[in-house]
Amino acid sequence: NTYDFGLIGLGVMGRNFILNVADNGFTAFGYDLDAGQVQALQEEGGDRSKVDATTDLPTFVKSLSTPRKIMLLVPAGKIVDAVIDNLLPHLDKGDIIIDGGNSFFTDTDRREAYLSEKGINFFGAGVSGGAKGARRGPSIMPGGSKQGYSEVKPIFEAVAAKFEGEPCVAYLGPKSAGNYVKMVHNGIEYGLMQLTSEIYDLLKKSGGLSNEQLHQTFSEWNRGRLQSFLVEITAQIFDQKDDLGEGSLVDKILDKAKQKGTGKWTSQNAMDLGIPIPTIDIAVSMREISALKDDRVAADQVYDRPEIQPMTEGALEELAENALYFAFIITYAQGMHQLAEASKEYGYELDMTTIAKIWRAGCIIRAGLLEDIASAYSQDKKLVNLLMSPEFTGKVQSTVNAARTLVSYGALNGIPLPGLSNALTYFDAFTSSRLPLNLIQAQRDHFGSHTYERTDREGIFHTNWEV
Ligand code: 6PG
Repeated sequence: NTYDFGLIGLGVMGRNFILNVADNGFTAFGYDLDAGQVQALQEEGGDRSKVDATTDLPTFVKSLSTPRKIMLLVPAGKIVDAVIDNLLPHLDKGDIIIDGGNSFFTDTDRREAYLSEKGINFFGAGVSGGAKGARRGPSIMPGGSKQGYSEVKPIFEAVAAKFEGEPCVAYLGPKSAGNYVKMVHNGIEYGLMQLTSEIYDLLKKSGGLSNEQLHQTFSEWNRGRLQSFLVEITAQIFDQKDDLGEGSLVDKILDKAKQKGTGKWTSQNAMDLGIPIPTIDIAVSMREISALKDDRVAADQVYDRPEIQPMTEGALEELAENALYFAFIITYAQGMHQLAEASKEYGYELDMTTIAKIWRAGCIIRAGLLEDIASAYSQDKKLVNLLMSPEFTGKVQSTVNAARTLVSYGALNGIPLPGLSNALTYFDAFTSSRLPLNLIQAQRDHFGSHTYERTDREGIFHTNWEV
């Protein structure tokens, strides 16, 4: 008996993904070093002729039909290289290896080059949607070997989430395109999460909303234009009682956010590309500030902060909904801009409409807004920044003032709103035909003869500045 699909790494993600494959009419075989994981899969899978697993690598490889389609769902980094090296002696030319983890994109490029020399089709495929997504339908972002992908396509299309019947998976481009797109997906995820937490802070500290009211507010928002997975789970979080004591669980959770690196990589690479994504950058910085809990507690004793005054400039919840919508748009705009630039720089040939479409279901950043984003890019294939799309100008223009009101209110009342204020500052700078950076050019030329260009004539200039 040979199986259609192989999966290495039977942790929660791997187990759920392979069960999803089996649910969709394909036979699947798993491999894990841990006998407990193998047993867990066999128990949950039931019929062994449909889904089975082993701790023995040769048995695993022999159980797969050729060309073998082997997906890795193991932690990113050295483990991926180790698994590949263990597998290689057992494989034949034409076999396919898919890395489904959050691998750094240059690692994917290196592995693809290494494996293609050996006749193995390798590609990276970002998988989003957490454990539930893996089980019931994730969004999948494959890139790399097109031929390799064509072999796996029917399986991926069957297991992926569906948006109005369309599978949330598509071949995105050569080399590491799939991992790169997933990385920026996660950067956007960081931005949206930071913004949601700021709005929560504001509603709680200024509006005095209880967790029950926060639950109601986010639930209502999720029925409107803010409809998204992250707003939906935020509403659920406020409804969750503490399982170890009294009150709401959210109030007992330590305010130190962890991170595995994909948001940081997005920011680092945006810097390399010269593309500003300040809302995502600050979301990474805020996780870092949050981790400095002891310093924050000490500094809180040293400085006074303003007493929070009630909001008088309008209905807080309405302002918050407008501002969050505005800042969500800005965050997607920054991430999509980075993707458009990366596509040119790395030769990914990304189709922005396709990306927005495969994010409409299954993934963590799925949102009603992605319909508008897909439509903006399909109307204008050359569109770089969403702010320039007629699809978005009205939406942004009508919500930016709420962001202004809340950012100034937050500043005066000592409520940090760094994501929101960065989104606003980005908007104000991006839409300024003249910025004061002429002064920076003058300073550079003054102290270092770095030269400057002029507004009124062509050429490169240097002045002997008088002291
Ligand atoms: C997804 C997520 C996932 C990511 C977690 C945790 O799309 O399903 O992006 O891939 O690993 O969200 O990321 P952090 O630990 O960095 O917050």
